[in-house]
Amino acid sequence: MIHRMTEDQLSHAQLKQSDRRPIIAIDGPAGSGKSTTARMLAKRLGFTYLDTGAFYRALTLKILEAGISPEDEAVVVQQAESTTISIKTLPEGDRVFLDGRDVTAQIRAPHVTNAIAPISSNPRVRAIMVNRQREIGRSGAVVMEGRDIGTVVFPNADLKIFMSASIDERAKRRHLELQKQGVERDFAPLRAEIAERDEKDTKRSAGPLRPADDAVMLDTTDMSIEQQVDFIVCALQKKFPMVVR
Ligand code: DC
Repeated sequence: MIHRMTEDQLSHAQLKQSDRRPIIAIDGPAGSGKSTTARMLAKRLGFTYLDTGAFYRALTLKILEAGISPEDEAVVVQQAESTTISIKTLPEGDRVFLDGRDVTAQIRAPHVTNAIAPISSNPRVRAIMVNRQREIGRSGAVVMEGRDIGTVVFPNADLKIFMSASIDERAKRRHLELQKQGVERDFAPLRAEIAERDEKDTKRSAGPLRPADDAVMLDTTDMSIEQQVDFIVCALQKKFPMVVR
């Protein structure tokens, strides 16, 4: 049973009255609904939202554009060290900048998505990205979303949520999302791609996708985004009644 709170009960003012600036970690596989949910949650709480996948995507774009092989570990690490990736929240939405250039749309291209795995499984690249993400999240009042936030980036996060959904539901969501963008894809290969990404994300030795021991599990298969946000708000309220009244 999901207890719904009104916007008034959860106004920014109530959060700002308290000194607490929680770090909320949201992890889960592709298509679990975590990006939309995390973004809406952050907006509702007046917190900063950080999509950590954008870091791995932006670096991958840079590697591909430079004609470097994603498998060339040493060169990829050098690039990671010398690359500036920033995310700015603008009125029209979050924008991702790679060395000062807006790459928000480019980092979502399928050829980028398909080239990420060797880069995101490189432990030295992960260490660089994790440090940058910690710097951004350290002062709190943040909703950070990814694969290893509750386990590696912020193992002491105030609230950890692990979102999941059945593979069929996730493939269905992706199929619909692509249709909305005017892209027609067969369901079966799309489902296979998601299964492959799951496999790569969970099997890598550095920062694998897995729930932290103290994560709250959230299966979103039959839930709307609004229900997902409500669920997390309730979990936050349970842990910090003084923060969310
Ligand atoms: O969440 P996303 O689909 O935008 O993530 C893109 C890729 O980056 C995905 O292949 C998993 C990887 N990733 C990661 O390894 N660690 C994170 N914290 C976030 C994303």
